[in-house]
Amino acid sequence: EYAKSVVLVEDNSLPKAQKIKVKQSIESRGKRVKVSGWVHRLRVQGKDMMFVVLRDGTGYLQCVLTGKLCHNYDAITLSVESTITVYGVINALPEGKTAPDNHELVVDFWEVVGKAPSGDDAFNNKVTQDADPSFLLDSRHLVIRGETQSAVLKARAQVIKAFRAHYDSRGYTEVTPPCMVQTQVEGGSTLFEFNYYGEKAYLTQSSQLYLETCLPSLGDVFCLAESYRAEKSHTRRHLSEYSHLEAEMAFLSFDDLLESLEDLLCDTIERVMADEPTRKLVEQLNPNFKMPERPFMRMKYADAIEYLRANDIKKEDGSYYVFGEDIPEAPERAMTDKINRPIFLTHFPAEIKAFYMQKVPGDRRVTESVDVLMPNVGEIVGGSMRMDNREELLEAYNKAGIDPTPYYWYTDQRKYGTTPHGGYGLGVERFLAWLLNRHTVRDCSLYPRFTGRCTP
Ligand code: 4AD
Repeated sequence: EYAKSVVLVEDNSLPKAQKIKVKQSIESRGKRVKVSGWVHRLRVQGKDMMFVVLRDGTGYLQCVLTGKLCHNYDAITLSVESTITVYGVINALPEGKTAPDNHELVVDFWEVVGKAPSGDDAFNNKVTQDADPSFLLDSRHLVIRGETQSAVLKARAQVIKAFRAHYDSRGYTEVTPPCMVQTQVEGGSTLFEFNYYGEKAYLTQSSQLYLETCLPSLGDVFCLAESYRAEKSHTRRHLSEYSHLEAEMAFLSFDDLLESLEDLLCDTIERVMADEPTRKLVEQLNPNFKMPERPFMRMKYADAIEYLRANDIKKEDGSYYVFGEDIPEAPERAMTDKINRPIFLTHFPAEIKAFYMQKVPGDRRVTESVDVLMPNVGEIVGGSMRMDNREELLEAYNKAGIDPTPYYWYTDQRKYGTTPHGGYGLGVERFLAWLLNRHTVRDCSLYPRFTGRCTP
């Protein structure tokens, strides 16, 4: 009853508060400000003092409320995740106290914007550390408010910015290919099919074929688009929808392609780490991160088969992998973790790779192809040189059981001025899982989609 009778009013004799975001706190020290956000943490000390860590997506700010400010009904019923606006002055902390950025806002007035529930429905009870994974996935809209998940999403935004800056500095043009298509790129078994005004269409697996058509028009190009794979396998690195960074270049050799990939990966990481707040995020999430050393190790597929044998990495049935077989995720990871540095795995046999890959002139069993393998994650990039001869391409469709009719526009590239060309696709969530040391790519996607999950 007493609390309900306490009414807070702003003291009009104080200087007018300037509205700021939390990230402007340091530069706003000493001035009277107002900040709005979510109650990230709440600590009540006796009946005359409350500490609130306020979060607004740009940072965290400790606020201290004293005396009457802690006595009203809103104060005694305040719960985490409620939204509030606080007014006051940000002061450096005295020795011995700690808070984000070593300062705190000494509140002189505050208001509730929207209350969050307490008790059984409280945020802390809904999103607990040890909750089972499917519950956490159902609650992802709340989980992303957490310090770790929001750090991953912030780092992701910065990484994407760095990729774009890299391509811009190297003279690539960004394009936006369609997601609704009528052709496959990486095999029919992982296509998501849908009804397009009565015609059969698919969600794209890769924008590669479209990028190839842009070379004569724009030169080197890249795109960042969602790709879709109806993967049956439930692994920690497979999503049904993922962000696919793809690039395509004309008039280059396979060696040039490998070099441009090394340049992309190293330059992007350097850009990410050169930005102080982002470097801190990477260090927070992956304290043992080390810059990869150039040049990357180069290993032919045939040598990887030998490596697996020499290191006693076998199939489930106890036999060794032989030339011509796909190296699945488990042995690939065992090898990559053991070597413990980035690997360019090259020259895969033609039969286990996509129809469009260029064969090695001197050894037509294998292709000018590359997978980039990273410790802890495995493959993060797949790329190759593309067949540039029209007859050979027509034969390749035939061999793969693909009807060339809907591919007429792709085949035309070999008719109207062909050129040696190549490119690659990088799985953004896999790159992030490696850089930020996340156990699964699911943690690197805002709302991950995988077998059995399309919510929230
Ligand atoms: O190796 P992939 O299938 O290659 C292509 O799609 C080429 N057409 C790309 C190109 O040359 N333009 O896929 C490329 C990368 C993989 O290395 C992996 O990082 C990622 O895409 N990827 C996936 N990421 C998450 N979930 C999945 N289901 C993925 N499938 C591929």
